[in-house]
Amino acid sequence: MLKLENIRKTYDMGESQVNALRGIDLTVAEGEMVAIMGSSGSGKSTLLNIIGCLDRPTAGDYYLDGENVSGLDKNRLAAVRNKRIGFVFQGFNLLGRMTVQANIQLPMIYAGTNKNEMDARAKEALNWVGLSKYLGHYPNQMSGGQQQRVAIARALVNNPSLILADEPTGALDSRTSIEIVSIIQQLNIEKGITVVMVTHEKDISQYCRRLVNLRDGRITEDAPVLNQRNAAADLAAFPKETEAGA
Ligand SMILES: Nc1ncnc2c1ncn2[C@@H]1O[C@H](COP(=O)(O)OP(=O)(O)OP(=O)(O)O)[C@@H](O)[C@H]1O
Ligand SMILES: [Mg+2]
Repeated sequence: MLKLENIRKTYDMGESQVNALRGIDLTVAEGEMVAIMGSSGSGKSTLLNIIGCLDRPTAGDYYLDGENVSGLDKNRLAAVRNKRIGFVFQGFNLLGRMTVQANIQLPMIYAGTNKNEMDARAKEALNWVGLSKYLGHYPNQMSGGQQQRVAIARALVNNPSLILADEPTGALDSRTSIEIVSIIQQLNIEKGITVVMVTHEKDISQYCRRLVNLRDGRITEDAPVLNQRNAAADLAAFPKETEAGA
């Protein structure tokens, strides 16, 4: 589904240059769930942004579903993104002045979906993340975990084949983190959506099936996760101290 060949990314800072990615070769098959780890500055977000067509590589080829997207211009990249990729970020990236429903519908507005269809799909997606009663809420009336679930619903509405998550649990407490990972795991297992997730938490990476480690813009390790953890099972066993984060 994804194939990166000798991908390089150099940021030009005028006086100096930063080689954020120094030759990445990576293939991800449909239905995989991959964790990307590495210390701060190792190039994880840069890599995810290129995979997500938010940014273009300086050199190398990137094939998404067989199409070489590394040379596409901004508009074409935006179209690819909108149709095939859902994003989840550490900071949720919801628009505060819009209701949950309006936030979830944004990707469909860009796609030109009609109103009835938008309403139906927003409901379905919100239902899927367990928040069907929150259509009319505003993000600031919700907990971090709930906001992240709304962001996941937003990522789902255009039926993407790929979900990219950059530190999706970075702003959440332990229990809520497992809740969010559990939803992401369900997307992978039940809907067959390919997942690539950046995390710096070893615990969280163990919910994926494969672990890629980056260091200084290069892959230093790429191996299956032995005994992939099941988030739903861990959640059931997790002591629930308070309802506040749920
Ligand atoms: N827009 C940019 N302009 C210039 N340099 C950048 C830019 N984005 C990232 N970099 C640099 O590229 C390198 C890789 O950054 P990147 O954000 O991919 O790291 P990361 O692994 O995601 O780190 P973190 O764990 O802190 O999020 C770093 O040296 C960073 O300073
Ligand atoms: Mg990052």
